[in-house]
Amino acid sequence: MAAKDSSASPAAHVAIIMDGNGRWAKGRGKPRLHGHKIGARRVREVVEACPDYGVRYLTLYAFSTENWKRAPSEVAGLMALFRQFIRSETAELVRQGVRVRFIGDRRPLNSKLRRMMGELEQATARNETLNLTVALNYGARDELSRAAARMAADVASGKLPEANLDADSLRPYLDTADLPDPDLVIRTSGETRISNFLLWQSAYSEFEFTPVYWPDFGRNELARILANFGSRERRFGAVLT
Ligand code: FPP
Repeated sequence: MAAKDSSASPAAHVAIIMDGNGRWAKGRGKPRLHGHKIGARRVREVVEACPDYGVRYLTLYAFSTENWKRAPSEVAGLMALFRQFIRSETAELVRQGVRVRFIGDRRPLNSKLRRMMGELEQATARNETLNLTVALNYGARDELSRAAARMAADVASGKLPEANLDADSLRPYLDTADLPDPDLVIRTSGETRISNFLLWQSAYSEFEFTPVYWPDFGRNELARILANFGSRERRFGAVLT
């Protein structure tokens, strides 16, 4: 295990758009699902590395609301991979002190997967070393419309006075209500889009785009990006004196 890198100013919350699994597999003459399988191993490696670098929150974009448009065999393979990941990793996540949460709309997911997700959340609820949030059937526009609908209902019922509404009023209605905003958003595979990920929460996040495909992303690339983050100056719109 690498030594703690205390020189880097830690990004307490890192969010990652894990991209490039398909291209990685294609480059090796393998089916796309093979890339996702190796990608799942990288999830394990990055989860294990985060506490060593002062990262307390890790949020991973695993399946977007748009990903249903992929071939049915790939969607089914990904869903099977999520179930397999929960089955094989629960004990290790508990041992490592990882608290797992899921964000996104669970309703369209298969009932068995939903049950397993709930059980994993319960089994890890008291853990504190790392907060791992998996975005599954997540889309920021979908999250924002669900949040706005619930907020509107509270305004209509008088629970939330309209006169009190401000820029932070939506926060408690978001899927991420219990989480701090991400300090750093990483996207792998050379693409430079946000792709409907944490749009509200990333208002002041730093962004880092790496050409590395997700199945090749590991501890070393994370450490390099975090060291780079540590050297940036974040102003949150203010002028620093
Ligand atoms: C994007 O690569 C990746 C995904 C849509 C799936 C991400 C899922 C994993 C890494 C599997 C394991 C995750 C967990 C949480 C167990 P892509 O298929 O769009 O790649 P491409 O752009 O090269 O086609």
